[in-house]
Amino acid sequence: MAKIFITRKIPDAGLELLKNKHKIEVFSDEVNPSKNELIKKAKDADAIISLLSDTIDREVIESCKKLKIIANYAVGYDNIDLDAARENNIYVTNTPDVLTQATADLTWTLLLSAARRIIESDKFVRDLKYKGWGPELLLGQRTFGKTIGIIGFGRIGKAVAQRANGFNMKVLYNKRTPLKKAEERKLNATYADLDKLIERSDFITINASLNDSTYHLIDKAKLEKMKENAIIVNTGRGPIINEKELAFALEKKEIFAAGLDVYENEPEVFNKLLELDNVVLTPHTGSATTYARYKMSEMVAEDVIAVLKGKEPKNKVV
Ligand code: DGY
Repeated sequence: MAKIFITRKIPDAGLELLKNKHKIEVFSDEVNPSKNELIKKAKDADAIISLLSDTIDREVIESCKKLKIIANYAVGYDNIDLDAARENNIYVTNTPDVLTQATADLTWTLLLSAARRIIESDKFVRDLKYKGWGPELLLGQRTFGKTIGIIGFGRIGKAVAQRANGFNMKVLYNKRTPLKKAEERKLNATYADLDKLIERSDFITINASLNDSTYHLIDKAKLEKMKENAIIVNTGRGPIINEKELAFALEKKEIFAAGLDVYENEPEVFNKLLELDNVVLTPHTGSATTYARYKMSEMVAEDVIAVLKGKEPKNKVV
């Protein structure tokens, strides 16, 4: 029986597919393994099912001599050393598509919550401060007809754009290779270089993946170029924004607000952000719908089963 090491309990759907066929070891319900624990548990494993919060670096990969596949329970895979996997003939897979709509929904949830000051409003009511309707009470930003700039225009970025069309927004996007004109027309979206997108947008969403070219893409200089009323949302990866510089810009009210689902050093959050009213924070729950998480569980299991049978996995990254 092949051994599959799963770094954290995932929804039953995938475990059901794997059980009886293979020896499964689940690390725990609550925490991810440390690097030493990971190596100790996975060194005789044929497959690892990992989370985005597990660092699968060269040392881990080269310590696991029987390893055939790392099935990452996420669409992003910046936590895995792809070169090391490739050189050691190990498949890496991910879970695209099934979490697209969930993540686009959360992007919009953060955008609207930041625009309409929902966290402050909720607190205001709970603190029994609501004494009657007020003409200037908790005024926020209009979204209808405004400009949204989407950085990273893959599946999730496009799903964010589709929702923006419902708000009659002008949609700007930035990605490495611009789309074909026909697809731009279909999404009602216009390519803009990064500086233009930043200067012209009322709302900026980060839906890009993390790599050398996106690390700290948003820093003090970019924040200074944003409109005074700009709102920035990040459901991509934390290190794309310099978190400290964002916190200072929010504190000085250089921009209106932010909505963050991801952080530079998860699970840590830069302290100042926790003190500010003009930022909405969620704990990396972009894909956290029952539907998406169950589908992701099936996908990782199916890819592991395929590879252990000597077949190509469906969601191959390398
Ligand atoms: C992923 O799966 O990479 C995303 O971060 C989900 O939120």
